[in-house]
Amino acid sequence: MPLRLHVVCKGFVAEIHGVDLSVAPDHRTAGALRDAARSYAVMVLRDQDIDYESFLRFAGMFGTAGRCDDISNLHEDGSIRVPTSLESRQAAGNALWHTDMPMLVAPPLAAMLLAQEIPATGGETQFADLAAALGALAPDMRRRLAKTNAVHELETIRRRMGLTDPGEIRGEYPPAEHPVVCLDPFSGRLSMLFGAHTSYFTGMSPEESSAMLDQLLRHSTQEEFVYTHRWRRYDLLMWNNRRVLHRVLPYGVATDRRRLWRAEVVGGRRPRRWPQSMRELFARF
Ligand code: OGA
Ligand code: MN
Repeated sequence: MPLRLHVVCKGFVAEIHGVDLSVAPDHRTAGALRDAARSYAVMVLRDQDIDYESFLRFAGMFGTAGRCDDISNLHEDGSIRVPTSLESRQAAGNALWHTDMPMLVAPPLAAMLLAQEIPATGGETQFADLAAALGALAPDMRRRLAKTNAVHELETIRRRMGLTDPGEIRGEYPPAEHPVVCLDPFSGRLSMLFGAHTSYFTGMSPEESSAMLDQLLRHSTQEEFVYTHRWRRYDLLMWNNRRVLHRVLPYGVATDRRRLWRAEVVGGRRPRRWPQSMRELFARF
């Protein structure tokens, strides 16, 4: 069956129909999926009741399949965790707008979730398009950001979640510094990198940094840049981690089961600045 693409948000989100990932995609299908990932920062494939190997094979079509996890509010024995447990409190960071693992030298290129158990209400995942948000910033602000770096740390998001015990917030990675405006390797377009892990902007005071982060978050998460995904069981959703912020919306963590498989595409290059002149940078919008 040929692959069919249904655009949900222009140039941002597409649903892909006509693909059954339980069988290895042929070259044409794989090529069409990779093409779609260049144009759409979020891709949704419905009804993918597939095994873990097939899920990882899908991740491997876009690069090196990396870390695999379950994202859930459950213990290994399947019972619901108490929300006050350390694991739950650390996982609660997903409720803040973030990019995954920006404290790595090369943050994952993409990540994907495959819904196994979904609460009846709440628990939607939201995505904000930072390429579109960048294009809508005032030219002065874009020019300023194009010369700015930001430092990202795991400890910072944990502190923002209200964790205070040094033993609980300590991250196992050193901080990383990246340009704020960088190239999205999928599309070659410019996007941004900041979020709940961002500790400060290089050369700004803590007050300036915090005001800048607030301003960027407020601007980029306006309704016009945001897609909200209401999960159905067996939805497979992939996002371009170099182009979007994402977060999970509240649900009954203490009472309702929520479990998704998760995989990543790793191994990309470190985030890069637009290598040409500023004039060319602005000619792109
Ligand atoms: C993630 C994440 C959000 C969700 O897995 O990286 O942020 O909706 N998940 O579970
Ligand atoms: Mn995440």
